Amino acid sequence: MSLRNSPDPAIRAAVVRQDLDNVLHPIVQHRALEASQAVYVAGQGSTIVDADGTEYLDAMAGLWCVNIGYGRVELAEIAADQMRQLAYYPHTAMNVPAARLAEQIVGMLGGGYHVYFVNSGSEANEAGFKIARQYQKQESPNGYRYKTISRYYAYHGTTMMTLAAGGMGERKAKFEPMGGGEFIHVAQPTCYRCPFKLSYPSCELACVRNMENTILGENPDSVAEVLVEPIMSGVGVAVPPDEYLPEVQALCRKYGILLHVDEVINGFGRTGKLFGHQHYGVEPDIIAMAKGISSAYLPIAATVVRDNVFGSFLGEPAEGRQVGQVNTYGGHAAAAAVASRNIEILLAEKLAERAAENGKYLMDGLKTLMKHPWVGDVRGKGLLQGVELVMDRKTKEPMGNDQVQGVVDFCKKQGVIVGRVRAGRDYQNTITLSPPLVITRAECDRLVETLDKAIAAMGAGLSGRA
Ligand SMILES: Cc1ncc(COP(=O)(O)O)c(C=O)c1O
Repeated sequence: MSLRNSPDPAIRAAVVRQDLDNVLHPIVQHRALEASQAVYVAGQGSTIVDADGTEYLDAMAGLWCVNIGYGRVELAEIAADQMRQLAYYPHTAMNVPAARLAEQIVGMLGGGYHVYFVNSGSEANEAGFKIARQYQKQESPNGYRYKTISRYYAYHGTTMMTLAAGGMGERKAKFEPMGGGEFIHVAQPTCYRCPFKLSYPSCELACVRNMENTILGENPDSVAEVLVEPIMSGVGVAVPPDEYLPEVQALCRKYGILLHVDEVINGFGRTGKLFGHQHYGVEPDIIAMAKGISSAYLPIAATVVRDNVFGSFLGEPAEGRQVGQVNTYGGHAAAAAVASRNIEILLAEKLAERAAENGKYLMDGLKTLMKHPWVGDVRGKGLLQGVELVMDRKTKEPMGNDQVQGVVDFCKKQGVIVGRVRAGRDYQNTITLSPPLVITRAECDRLVETLDKAIAAMGAGLSGRA
């Protein structure tokens, strides 16, 4: 916080030098970092502060994760207390905060689940794949259910297997080939850009029929699980029709397939309910959680399994039914203590309800942006929203990469951080918003006003070019 009050250019310069000489950053190009860097040193609520003292409204909550907002000093105290007592012991044993956290999570799901702790969203999905396969092997010893069916343009993580399960071809290109034929993709429910060029409801959920056709074509007896994110974030916040998830669940039940739901972004209040799938009345068999579980105060994540799955892992030790893997840091006591308090805050301050109310307020504001001909669609649930930019509202031709980046950069210059997706050729043109759930209405207004100016400036640039 000291830099916040008295920014010191010498300290900033020293950090930048030290970083450029030594760090390898994810995704960003170092040549670009040499020209311009962000060094964040403090945060409070929905605001983060650069080393030069500039404040930004962070409408992406970091990477869609700081749900309770920045600057919750009490979490530092909780971590310190737990570290003084016992920071860590492997989760083959029990510890106080992890047991409490598991009980809280199961309570938020309405009971009937057990929690396996890991450290990131990718690991949570990876453990989900393995639990699904082990379950199927145990339940049908003569069967061979091992495939995961997921959707094109989904994002499920960065490890080789989660990348393979994801459906973003361009993200995979540098690393292929990966895996065998165990990850099968089906059409995604991106209604604004329906892969079948149909419209809801006359489409009669062609995407679900496509999933069923794929299950049948693959042979249902080879499919272990279907993996879905309730509201697809990375493709530009695609909210499916209300019947989509219940129908996917019905397919799973019909063919003896587990339903694995990715709540890494959707979870912990983000969409206006505690979990995204709770909008749709389904009961997943496996749930991956991360991000909002601790609001990123410490790394922790979880793979949560329904009691039907948990039951398959019970038996005599010699039967070997126990979970067939261990993560060194799984159930880390200090991280669990922080996550537990994070959830107490989330519930006490009714942040899911607040996300629903302020999400609606923000959505109403964003809809006014439709006055610009380049706004094709505004969509979302709670505080997970997207503004899709197009060249032409009729043809839906996606807005160009430079223009979309121009909107993001314009907002940043105005002190507002917004996101954008990069999910493949036709899915690069949505501005994403996923602010801390504590965002105020005044901050929502500022967000809309800034986007309004940014889109107007983009449009002026387009006319100038014409
Ligand atoms: C939907 C979804 N699943 C999984 C992941 C992977 O999480 P992590 O980056 O913590 O490994 C992400 C990350 O953004 C995500 O958005």
